[in-house]
Amino acid sequence: MANVTVIGAQWGDEGKGKIVDWLASRADAVVRFQGGHNAGHTLVIDGEVYKLSLLPSGIVSGTMSMIGNGVVLDPWALREEVQKLEGQGVAINDDNLAIADNCPLILSVHRDLDALRETAAGKGKIGTTGRGIGPAYEDKVGRRAIRVCDLAHLDRLEPQLDRLCAHHDALRAGFDQPPVDREAILAELADVADFVLRFAQPVWKRLKKVRKAGAKILFEGAQGVLLDVDHGTYPFVTSSNTVSGTAASGSGLGPNAIGFVLGIVKAYTTRVGSGPFPTELDDEIGQRLGERGHEFGTVTGRQRRVGWFDAVLVRQTCSISGVTGIALTKIDVLDGLETVKICTGYRLRGNVIDYLPTHSADQAEVEPIYEEMEGWSESTVGARSYVDLPANAIKYIQRVQELIETPVSLVSTSPERDDTILMKDPFED
Ligand code: IMP
Repeated sequence: MANVTVIGAQWGDEGKGKIVDWLASRADAVVRFQGGHNAGHTLVIDGEVYKLSLLPSGIVSGTMSMIGNGVVLDPWALREEVQKLEGQGVAINDDNLAIADNCPLILSVHRDLDALRETAAGKGKIGTTGRGIGPAYEDKVGRRAIRVCDLAHLDRLEPQLDRLCAHHDALRAGFDQPPVDREAILAELADVADFVLRFAQPVWKRLKKVRKAGAKILFEGAQGVLLDVDHGTYPFVTSSNTVSGTAASGSGLGPNAIGFVLGIVKAYTTRVGSGPFPTELDDEIGQRLGERGHEFGTVTGRQRRVGWFDAVLVRQTCSISGVTGIALTKIDVLDGLETVKICTGYRLRGNVIDYLPTHSADQAEVEPIYEEMEGWSESTVGARSYVDLPANAIKYIQRVQELIETPVSLVSTSPERDDTILMKDPFED
């Protein structure tokens, strides 16, 4: 099992960046396969902080990094992120970065539409990151997207622009907005074309080559399974499939390449944006966890909603995504609590259920059933071995493992790369 697929098993922000960076240093190639620059990964390496939204986390450690076709690519955000990282001393060139030439582009019209819809929705808004992700995916399946390969053929863009503008002009009119400025779009694309084309290629072919050579490939998911457009808390979700299977369709390698599926799971729960959140804490403990966990969005700076660990949700996402093992992150945020709670089931209109129902009204109505455990006063920060953990922290981890019916492969005890306890190396057969 040489390859590893990393996915978020809650609502995103589980600490994937650190784990992916840690695994990337042992991989030969890292591939992103869905989402866009709505993702936010923070890496801390030797005290230096790197913030990534679009580039695969392997880029910082110099590992060959690829952006697969399942990603929606904002070329201006890409240029800005590359320049910022280069300013921090990270080398980025066509040797270590490849971008699928069939990636759909996020354009200014997508950002406009995202913002117009969210503003018009008022209280019913999704709480998107405002990056144009949803509208860009809509245009992909609507067969009117401008893709990376189009940047090499801007003189032949007219028929595709016709399709794109016919759709957007009608929508914009509904918001009292002027039609799309075609010339401005063409000028924007011309400005960024050479920069993107440096990295553009059929990524599936590159992957085929590295796979044949026996490379260890790391597939890097963004967001989390509860934000999956099919399996998440619809409609309060993102617009891509965030489950592990997307690693195949979003990169151009078959499902047998996915390997070990590592679900990243925070030792408690957070979410940004609107939507149901059964174990949400609206009290001092929630505030304390949010502060200790620095729960502010990497991309938007928004304060994250915080709650107890929900084993029902994680058992469900691990099953849906075929998770082989989990990486449990931010256990140190629970240090010092007298008692800790884990949600083990829900009560819905008098019935006890062991899964999250599909309808959003039911999801909003479920009441968590908690199991209470003794906390630990000792610090877990920086622990690198299981035996360094307080006995009650070990009990907590073991209980989590039992309830989610999935083994714990790693425990992360600080943002630093090496503050990690390894139980099972995902890259090992
Ligand atoms: P969008 O992906 O910008 O369309 O936002 C849709 C929903 O997904 C909103 O609730 C966002 O807050 C959430 N979301 C998108 N990306 C992330 C992420 O990387 N971490 C956590 N939540 C995210």
